[in-house]
Amino acid sequence: MTTSDIGHVNGHQALRPELPVRTMDLLRDRNTDLRDRAVSDGEAVRRQRALGKRTARERLDLLLDPGSFIEVDLYRRHQAHGLKVSDHRPHTDGVVAGSGTIEGRRVFVYAQDFTIFGGSLGQAHAAKIHKVMDMALATGAPIIGLNDSGGARIQEGVMALDGYGGIFRRQVEASGVVPQISVVLGPCAGGAAYSPALADFTFMVRGTAKMYLTGPDVVAAVSGERVSHEDLGGASVHGGLSGVASFVHDDEESCLEDVRYLVSLLPGNNLESPPALEPCGATEDERAAFASIVPVEPNQPYDMRVVVSELVDDGEFLEVHEGWAANVVCVLGRVDGEVVGLVGNQPMVLAGVLDSAAAQKAARFVRFCDAFGIPLVSLVDVPGFLPGTEQEHGGVIRHGAKLLYAYCEATVPRIQVIVRKAYGGAYIVMDSRSIGTDLSLAWPTNEIAVMGAEGAVNVIFRKELAAAADPENLRAELLAEYSEQLVHPYYAAERGLVDDVIDPAHTRAAVARGLAMLKDKRKVTPARKHGNVPL
Ligand code: HXC
Repeated sequence: MTTSDIGHVNGHQALRPELPVRTMDLLRDRNTDLRDRAVSDGEAVRRQRALGKRTARERLDLLLDPGSFIEVDLYRRHQAHGLKVSDHRPHTDGVVAGSGTIEGRRVFVYAQDFTIFGGSLGQAHAAKIHKVMDMALATGAPIIGLNDSGGARIQEGVMALDGYGGIFRRQVEASGVVPQISVVLGPCAGGAAYSPALADFTFMVRGTAKMYLTGPDVVAAVSGERVSHEDLGGASVHGGLSGVASFVHDDEESCLEDVRYLVSLLPGNNLESPPALEPCGATEDERAAFASIVPVEPNQPYDMRVVVSELVDDGEFLEVHEGWAANVVCVLGRVDGEVVGLVGNQPMVLAGVLDSAAAQKAARFVRFCDAFGIPLVSLVDVPGFLPGTEQEHGGVIRHGAKLLYAYCEATVPRIQVIVRKAYGGAYIVMDSRSIGTDLSLAWPTNEIAVMGAEGAVNVIFRKELAAAADPENLRAELLAEYSEQLVHPYYAAERGLVDDVIDPAHTRAAVARGLAMLKDKRKVTPARKHGNVPL
C-alpha cells in the first residue's frame, strides 16, 4: 500500500464492510476529490512534474516504509473568506501530515503540496503541522518537514503569520528533545526559511529548491541588483556559501534516501540511546593503512575522510555540510556498532586551519551530538587558526569561542585522537584534555606545542640569532633542540595531557575500546537557566 491509496489509509478500507450504506456514501463523496487529486494528471500536478518535482504523496512514499503512513487531518480545509479562496476549499489545505516509519522506527512528517495554493501556509495548513509537531514531541519521535511552498498564504493575512510563529515556537521547544529534519524541495521564501534554519539538519535539491528571505524581485527593487533564484538561494549557495543547508542532492530520490539514512543514525529523542548495531570486532581491529594515509611531513596534505573511512564500521559515514567550511569534517558513522559523531581537521583544505565558518560548523555539530547522546571522536591535525584581517574583523574570536563552548559543555563520551599536529589555541579548542576530553590518544609522530619549531625559535632566540656568527647553523641546532624537548607526544603524555601514545594501526581498536569504557558516562551539570553561548 502507498500513501497515494487514499481510500486505504486510516483503516477506512478495513472499516467499510461494517459501515451503514449512508456512511459509505458520505465517505465516498468526501474522498472523491482527494482520490482524483492524488491520481489525476491535473494542470497543477503536470506543472509540478514539468519542474522535475514529485507530488507530496509521492515524496512520502519514497521517504517512509511502504504501508506505514498514518495520515491525520485528511479532510481539513481552510475556513477563510474573501480574495479567491471562498469558493475553493480543497481538502488537506495543501499539506499532507501524519506519521510513518523509517526502517521500522516512528517519525512524524508533513509534506507541503505545491499543487494546492502553491503549498502556501494558511491557518488550517499550519494547524496540521502544529498537530504532528506536538505528537512528535509527546511521543519522542523525529519530525521531518518536506517544504515546497510559496510561504505565508497571502489571502489569510496575519493568521498565516501566526501559523508560522506557532511552527517556530514548537521547533525551539523541541530543539534538543527530538531530532528535526527539514527538506527543501521547492520554494521556501520569506520567514518560512526560518523553519529549515531552526532544524537540526536541512536538505536541499539542486535546481528546484530555493530559499531566501527576500526574492530576486525585491532584491532588484531595493538595490537594483539582478540575480536569479538559483544564484540567490539555490542549493549550491546554501550548501557551499551560507551553510544553511547541511546536505545538497541532485534529485529528490537520493535526497529522501539520505534522509532515511540520517534517521537510521539518530535516536528518537534525547532520552533514548542512539540506535546501536551488534559489535563487529572493532576492539581487536588492526589497520596498517592508517600510517600510510597520513604523511609524516607536517605540511603535506591528505584527506581526513580517508582516515574516517578506516575508523568507522564498513567505511560508511554520512558527512554533514560537505560543501561548506570543508577545512573541518563533521560526520556521523558507527564504531563497533555504536553511533559516533566525528569532527576532524581537513589538511586538504586551507591546510586544515580553523576559521570562523569551520568553528561554527563544528560547534553546531558538537552541540547536536551532545544533545542526543552521540559520543564525540575528534581527529586532530591542526596548524592553528587562520590569520588575517578578514578573519579577525569577521569575528573569528567570537566564532572560535562557539566551538570551545560547545566542547566544554558536552557531557557525552569524548575521545581525542591527535593524528599529526596540534598547535596553540586550536589544540585546546579541538577537545583537548584541558577542556574535558575523556580520553586523549596520540600517534608517536605528533607535534603538540604552542607553535611550530620555526616560529618558536625565532621568538625565543631572536637576540641570539641576530648576534650569531653563523645564524643558520645556530638556528638548525636550536630547531633540533626545541623539537626534541617539546614537540612530541611524550612531553604531553608524561604530564597526563595525552592518555596513550598508540601505534596508528591500533587507532580503530583504541577508539572502540575507549567508547566501550566510557559507555555509561554520566555527568551532572550545575543548575542554571542556560549558559550564554557566544552566538
Ligand atoms: C497564496 C500563493 C502564494 C502565497 C503562490 N501562490 N504563493 N497563494 N499565497 N504566498 C499560488 C499562486 O497564486 C498560484 O495560484 C500557485 O500558488 C502557484 O504559484 P505560481 O506563482 O504560479 O508558481 P511559480 O511560478 O512556480 O512561482 C512560485 C513562487 C511564486 C516563486 C513561490 O508563487 C511566489 O513568488 N509566490 C509568493 C511568494 C511570497 O512572497 N510569499 C510570501 C513570503 S513572506 P494559481 O491559483 O494561479 O494556481 C512569508 C512571511 C512568512 O512567507 C513570515 C513568517 C514569520
